[in-house]
Amino acid sequence: MIKPKFIKIETTNRCNAQCIMCPHKTFNPKRLMDMPFETVKRLLDEATWKPTVQLSGFGEPTLYPQLVDAVKLCRKKGMPCRIYTNGMLMSPELTKKLVDAGLTWFIITVDGRDKETFEKIRVGLNFETVEYNIKEAWKICRNSKTTMKLGSVICKENKHDIKNIERYWRPYAHNYRAWIEIPLVHGRVPTSYKTCGARGWRPWTQLVVRANGNVPFCCIDVADEYPIMGNVHESKMLQIYNSPKFNELRRRVKEQRNMPEMCKLVCLR
Ligand SMILES: C[S@@+](CC[C@H](N)C(=O)[O-])C[C@H]1O[C@@H](n2cnc3c(N)ncnc32)[C@H](O)[C@@H]1O
Ligand code: SF4
Repeated sequence: MIKPKFIKIETTNRCNAQCIMCPHKTFNPKRLMDMPFETVKRLLDEATWKPTVQLSGFGEPTLYPQLVDAVKLCRKKGMPCRIYTNGMLMSPELTKKLVDAGLTWFIITVDGRDKETFEKIRVGLNFETVEYNIKEAWKICRNSKTTMKLGSVICKENKHDIKNIERYWRPYAHNYRAWIEIPLVHGRVPTSYKTCGARGWRPWTQLVVRANGNVPFCCIDVADEYPIMGNVHESKMLQIYNSPKFNELRRRVKEQRNMPEMCKLVCLR
């Protein structure tokens, strides 16, 4: 039985931004929702093999009312946990609560060092607020057990300045990394075809649960466009992850034969 090293629980798929490289803005508003906290609790109960838990997916986790409680529960059960956040609502108060709850690490993605570039990419967010939150968060985290990371998505709007962006933000976190925009928004960057099959990667190591309980084959299927593998309201996570349907897709990816279309479009490597 495959037990994923990571589970990604999409606590909410609501967001307070419309970043230009992110497919979130194309989601049907009718499917925007928070995962009921009862479901989060049940998934954490099921995760007896103690994977690392990511409490975010395609949405902004700081909008989830029970985020701090979810972190506490992960830690009580002995599981490391992490979030990706856009930083807009990471006030010093929330950061302190998350650190006290035992959050293992968080990453704030900040794609510019100036207001103009940042707000052109992270549409709907305010540069000064995010900058303030980052600098205050660093004071709270630098000597805590929580690792604070910063990162940037390298895209055509900021790539000319990426070295300076790194130089600007690096002093305010334990680490910083930049990664290249993945073609998730039609027409922005050319698609690349690099299957993860040969290396047996994401669908072998990560299990993704969307806010509505759907389990996609891979996190790349951001909008449940491809056949979903199951739903946690109907089956246990590990049953879905080890189902004949899931294994058949893994086999096809590994053999690079008759692969799911999403693997041909892009691979989140
Ligand atoms: C989907 S967001 C969700 C969490 C949170 N809202 C945030 O922005 O950090 C998770 C990560 O994906 C990144 N991301 C979004 N669109 C991307 C793309 N097309 N290519 C690469 N990374 C992307 C974001 O910058 C963020 O670091
Ligand atoms: S990258 Fe994060 S903050 Fe930006 S739209 Fe996507 S989910 Fe929202």
